[in-house]
Amino acid sequence: MKITFYGHASLGIQVNDVDILVDPFISGNPKASHINIDTLKADYILVTHAHQDHILDVEAIAKRTGAVVVANFEIATHFEKSGIECHPMNHGGTWDFDFGTVKYVNAIHTSSFPDGSYGGQPGGFVIEGEHKNIYIAGDTALTFDMKLIPLQTKLDLAILPIGDNFTMGIDDAILASDFVACDKVLGYHFDTFGYIEIDHEVAKRKFFEKEKDLMLLEIGDFIEL
Ligand code: NI
Ligand code: MN
Repeated sequence: MKITFYGHASLGIQVNDVDILVDPFISGNPKASHINIDTLKADYILVTHAHQDHILDVEAIAKRTGAVVVANFEIATHFEKSGIECHPMNHGGTWDFDFGTVKYVNAIHTSSFPDGSYGGQPGGFVIEGEHKNIYIAGDTALTFDMKLIPLQTKLDLAILPIGDNFTMGIDDAILASDFVACDKVLGYHFDTFGYIEIDHEVAKRKFFEKEKDLMLLEIGDFIEL
């Protein structure tokens, strides 16, 4: 499984020869200006919630690639109106896709479309493929519901927001890492704009002091599990 960071909360996941994008907000992120959305491959686009900084490039990429949008019922209904193929899910639901299994799990946040219309309840994803298990938290506060995940899934990587203000910050993400029983963390949702700027060295040191590994990727860089 290969995971590429496209800035903010945008990820590319390659698993079993399938290309997945998560929350593509790239063309609106000046820090990601070297990423061209017209060249990104996508068989699926996973969307955690309806905020602009998670859906901005969904429509353009889905229409170019024919990717299937996987999201909660309200977001799926929204994109289906634009002629995009969607797979609706809701909290607690799991589905076997051709690349692996996806479970839509709880997040504590809000979820409205840019025009203010209702985007359903926000979520995160637990993805299992190529015998690797990852958790993509989405925008969320620290929540006890995270403790449910390791009851069923032994995670290889937790992708957690760490930028604070709109989501968990660093200290809560360390607790989240305990809750999901995974000490290997990829941080996201930081530095994109002023409210969520973090000190990378402080963040990494705090994780290190708890014997955890926080990875912060440059935009466009990837890791392999
Ligand atoms: Ni959000
Ligand atoms: Mn966000």
